[in-house]
Amino acid sequence: MQKLFTGLQPSGTLHIGNYFGALRPAVEMAGEFDAMVCVVDYHAMTSLKNPVEMRANIINATKDYLAAGLDPSRTIIFQQSQVPEHTELAWIFECLVTVPFLELSHAYKDKLAKGLEANAGLFNYPMLMAADILLYDTDIVPVGADQRQHIEYAREAAAKFNNAYGETFKEPKEKINDAIAVIPGTDGKKMSKSYKNTIPLFGTKDEIAKAVMSIVTDSAGDIPENVHAIHKHFRDEASLSALYEANKGKYKNLKDALIEDIDALIAPMRAKRDSITDADVIRVLKEGSDKARARASAKMKDVRSKVGIQL
Ligand code: ADP
Ligand code: TRP
Repeated sequence: MQKLFTGLQPSGTLHIGNYFGALRPAVEMAGEFDAMVCVVDYHAMTSLKNPVEMRANIINATKDYLAAGLDPSRTIIFQQSQVPEHTELAWIFECLVTVPFLELSHAYKDKLAKGLEANAGLFNYPMLMAADILLYDTDIVPVGADQRQHIEYAREAAAKFNNAYGETFKEPKEKINDAIAVIPGTDGKKMSKSYKNTIPLFGTKDEIAKAVMSIVTDSAGDIPENVHAIHKHFRDEASLSALYEANKGKYKNLKDALIEDIDALIAPMRAKRDSITDADVIRVLKEGSDKARARASAKMKDVRSKVGIQL
C-alpha cells in the first residue's frame, strides 16, 4: 500500500474554506492510503511563542480533524515533537545542504516580507519538513500549491543523502489538487482568516447565521452573487438552480436557506467535536506517536549507521 504523509499546522480557528480546501480532501485521501497525519508543533514554534496558545492549538487542531472524519484506528495521527527522530534527521539534512540553497525558499522570503522574525528555525523549516516526510518512506504528500517548493526541498534532501551515503530515502511526490475550488468569503473575496470574511467551521447556528447575514448583497439582480457563490458548495446544481429560480430577488429567503444548508453539514461535525475531550485527544496523539516512533526509530538506526555515528 502506498504511503501518505501530511503535516498540519496547529493554528487558529478554522472556517468553511479550510474544510473544503484542506480538511475534507485530507480525510478522504487518508482513507485510501497507509496514512500518517502529523501535528507539526515544532514548525509552529517558528512563529508561535506562547505556551498556553501552543497547547490549546495542538489540542484544537487534532479535534478539528477528528471531527471532520479522520479515523485514528486507520490513520496514524501524531505529534511531531513526540518523535524526536524528526529533529534529529533534520540536523543531518542541515549538514548536507548549503545556506544559499535554503535562501531560495519562497516561503521564507514571503514570511520575512510580512515582517516575521528571521529566526534560524524559520530558515531551516524546509529541512525539518523534509525529515517529517522522508523518515517514513513516504510516496505521496497532499499539500496546497504553496507547499510545492517544500516537497522539492524534500526530494533534494533525499538525493543529497543518497548520493553521500548510499540509497536510503525514497523521493516523495506532492499531490496538489488544483480542482479544489476557492471558497469565497462574505465579501466575495477568497475566504481567509486574514480578511475577516469567514464562516466558522464549528460555529453555532447563531454564529453561522450572523456570518451569512453579513454577506454583502449590493447587486441589484435577481441572484445575490455572493450568497450563490458560497451556496453552490452546499447543494447540487439542479436543486440550487430550482431554489434560486423560486426565490428570485428574495435575498432573505436565500440567506435563510444557506444558513440551513451550512448548518446541516456542520451540525454533526460540531456535535462530534463537542463530544471529544482533551483527554481523548491526548490519548489519540500518544497512541499515534508511539506507532510513528516505532517506524521512525527503525529508519534512524539505518541512517545513524550509514553516516558512521553508530559505533
Ligand atoms: P487562511 O487563508 O484563512 O489563513 P490558511 O492559509 O491557513 O487559511 O489555509 C489552510 C488551508 O486551507 C490551506 O490548505 C488552504 O489551501 C485552505 N484554504 C484556506 N482558505 C481557503 C478557501 N477560501 N477556499 C479553499 N481552501 C482554502
Ligand atoms: N509546511 C506545511 C504547511 O505550512 C506543514 C508541514 C510540515 C507539512 N511538515 C509537513 C506538510 C510534511 C506536509 C508534509 O502547510
